[in-house]
This record gives sequence, structure tokens and C-alpha cells, in this order.
Amino acid sequence: MAISRRDFLKKGAFGAISVAMLGNGVSDLFGQKSSSPLRFGIIGVGSRGTGLLTVLLNIPNTTVTAICDMNKANLDNAIKIVEKMKGTTPAGYSKDEYDYRNMLKRDDVDAVLIATSIKWHAIMSSDALKANKHVGCEVPGGYTEEELTRLIKARETSGRHYMLLENYNYFRANMAVYNMTQKGVFGETYFAECAYLHETDFLNFNPDGSLTWRGELRKNTHGNWYATHEIGPVSKWLGINEGDRFKYLVCMQTEPRMAHIHAVQKFGAQSEQAKIKFKTGEMITTLIYTEMGKVIRVDFGPFSPHPQSVYYSVQGTKGGYDSRAGVYIEGVSPNEKWEDAEKYLVKYENSYWQQEKAKAEEAGHGGSDYFVMRDFVEMVRQDREPWIDVYDSAAWSIIYKCTQTSLEHKSAPVDIPDFTGGRWKDASWRKDNMKPL
Ligand SMILES: NC(=O)c1ccc[n+]([C@@H]2O[C@H](COP(=O)([O-])OP(=O)(O)OC[C@H]3O[C@@H](n4cnc5c(N)ncnc54)[C@H](O)[C@@H]3O)[C@@H](O)[C@H]2O)c1
Repeated sequence: MAISRRDFLKKGAFGAISVAMLGNGVSDLFGQKSSSPLRFGIIGVGSRGTGLLTVLLNIPNTTVTAICDMNKANLDNAIKIVEKMKGTTPAGYSKDEYDYRNMLKRDDVDAVLIATSIKWHAIMSSDALKANKHVGCEVPGGYTEEELTRLIKARETSGRHYMLLENYNYFRANMAVYNMTQKGVFGETYFAECAYLHETDFLNFNPDGSLTWRGELRKNTHGNWYATHEIGPVSKWLGINEGDRFKYLVCMQTEPRMAHIHAVQKFGAQSEQAKIKFKTGEMITTLIYTEMGKVIRVDFGPFSPHPQSVYYSVQGTKGGYDSRAGVYIEGVSPNEKWEDAEKYLVKYENSYWQQEKAKAEEAGHGGSDYFVMRDFVEMVRQDREPWIDVYDSAAWSIIYKCTQTSLEHKSAPVDIPDFTGGRWKDASWRKDNMKPL
């Protein structure tokens, strides 16, 4: 049945699109456009923030009015990109590490994109929500239970929206498998594996030999501090926060050796860098148990000499998917044989990929950067809760602290906090959120 624009707004068919937002002069889902674009501010324009800046500016009816980075060279470079792509000069903030708060006072910023080092993510997100800005934040969303709880409170009291920019959920295969799980192709899903193995020792040191923020993190902490790439897609496949939740986990890691070996290779056995004792091991394996009795295995490997390897699997009562093997559906697939996944990925292709594959492939990370930014922009445009909301951000990000605690107690089980206040029990409590089906 066709639905008119008027009915759409009246019935709120896609959730809470505010008339005020439409009145603000942006285009709605029906493509009704007016003159003023959505105005973004960006905090952190290093490697990732600069990449996302260009993806953002390529999305129609968007502009960047302000940029903050303590690193003046990075800031100037980002300002030049906006000037080149939009013909306007955004305001720059680089006085000190809290100058972003001055940027948040601006009236010409509707939403803020955060891509700084991780320790700032939760505090900056909370500050931006309190300043009445929508937020899109890079991964993970924060570290501690306290700051993630404060973030949730800021989101719930501000009336603005928050999205965790977890691009790995938007990979073509991961979105098709999400469709398959929603359509019950695998039956009830009960087990999943996810892994992010990427030899990134080159990110430990600055060119002058000092530690980068990642190097500091790896020196001072252990545990899986980068779990959202792994856990994000499988959480959606298993209905985490929608009928289930993470209950507890156990974690083991190998005794650190590779970070030291890399430091010796790069700076020499007698160097200061060779004396650094890194706490992060090369392989960190976590098992998560859920309230509904499901199990997830999460592997994180930042240092091993190994081609970059990101893989996922999900198993259900009728069959399963393994990105390394294929798809098996009992009674459909040949007995005891994996089928080529591609046949299923085409059949269950997500509408995002059906409609905008070519555009996505121009962006980074296999097209996922385009879709994650497009959903962020849509969240702002529609004034509506996103698919990956603040509750997902908190549940996925707290894995780091819980794995750390488990490691400190000989891999003991550690309870995982519930950030939804029990709302996870109702599988449809987020039915008005955006959902890429
Ligand atoms: N989703 C992905 O695929 C992906 C890929 C890479 C990085 N990331 C995430 O993106 C974030 C940035 O990573 P990166 O590789 O670009 O790091 P980076 O070090 O290259 O850039 C970080 C930038 O933030 C700035 N900054 C830090 N604290 C600041 C403050 N208080 N105020 C203003 N500016 C500040 C730094 O000066 C720097 O320019 C990290 O959280 C990382 O986890 C995500």
C-alpha cells in the first residue's frame, strides 16, 4: 500500500521523524529538499577522521562548519579538504585538549563526529549530547562502566541521538547474514565466532620513537580493547540487547612477546624501545556466555605475523555460516558439505548493498565506511535512533574492561554489566530504531 508523505509523518511509520527537523530545511526520506545542508563538526582529524571527513562530504546535503584537533597540521589539512570539496572554510579549534568544548558552543553545528584517540570518546560524546548535538563516535565508545553509564544518561536526557560508527557491521557479507538471521534461515542462533587479527605493531611508535596513543595503551593494558569490530556483527545476528544480553566472560591471552620483538627489529636490541614491557599479548581469546545460554568466541590479535584476517561464523538450529567455509543449511545443502556462501549472499543481499554498491565501493573498508556514515547522516536527518545505538556501544565497548579484569584474576569469569536496565528482555523495545533490512 502506498503511503503519502502526510500519512507518513502523521503515523510516524518509520519512527520519530520530527516535523521540526524537516522544517529546518533538510531533505526527508521522500527526497524533498531545501537549501540548507546538515552541519557537522568533527573532533579528531588524524588518519581515520580525515578519511571519514571525505566520505561525509560526499554525502549530499552535508557540510562541515567546524573542526577541532590539537594537532595543527592535521587540523589545517582537514580545513583545506573542506575548502576544496565545499568551497567554505570551517572554523578551527586547536588551543588545547579541551578546546572541543568551545566548538560545542556553536549554533551552526547540528551533529558531531568524534575520531580521536579512544580515551576521549565517552567524555566527548557525553559533552556533545549535553550541548544538544547529535553524535557519531568512532570505536570503541569508551572504556569504563562509569563513563559508559554517564554516556547513556547523557543520551537519555539530551533528546539527541548517538550512533557508534562500527563500520564492520556494514560489510556486504555481514549485512546479508544479518538478513538471513532475521529471516530465520539458520533457525535459532546459539553460537558465534568473530576475529580481528591484524598485525599493527607499526602503530606503536611515532616516527621519533616515542609511543603513540595505541603504543601507550598496549604498554599499559591488556585485554581486548578493540572488540567492537568482532562483536558488533555477531551481536546483531544473535539478538544481543534485543531478547538476550552478554552475561559473563572469561579471557586468556598469550604472554606478550611479539611487541618486544618488533621493537628490537625496528630500533635495535639496546634501544630504549626494546626495554619497554608491553602488557598486550599477541593473541587474546575471550568466551562470552549470554543470558539465553548462547556462546560467543572473540579473538583479537594485534601483533602476530599473519595476513590480516577478519572472520565470523554463526551457528543455529537449522544451519550456519562461516566466512572461512561457506553456508550449510540442513536438508538443503548437500550432506556434510559447505555450500559457496556467495549464492546466499546474493539471495539475501541487503537493500543497502543492492542499491548503492558502486557508491560504497569508492569509500574505505570494503564499502562499509560509506554505509556507516550514511546511516549517521540519516540519523541526524531523520532525528531518529540509529541501528547501532548507545546501548550497543556500551555493551560492546565494556568487553575491554571485563577482559582486563578476567586476565587479572587468572581468567576468572567476570560479569558483564547490563546497560539497558533490563529492557533487553523485550526483543522489540527498539522497534522504532533504524534497521537496515
Ligand atoms: N572503524 C575503523 O575501521 C577504524 C579504523 C581506524 C581507526 N579507528 C578509530 O578511530 C580513532 C582515531 O584513530 P586514528 O588512527 O585516526 O588515530 P590518529 O592518532 O591518527 O588520530 C587521532 C587524532 O585525534 C586528535 N586528538 C586526540 N585527542 C584530542 C583532543 N582532546 N582534542 C582534539 N583532538 C584530539 C589527535 O591530534 C589526532 O589528530 C580511534 O578511536 C580508532 O579506534 C577506527
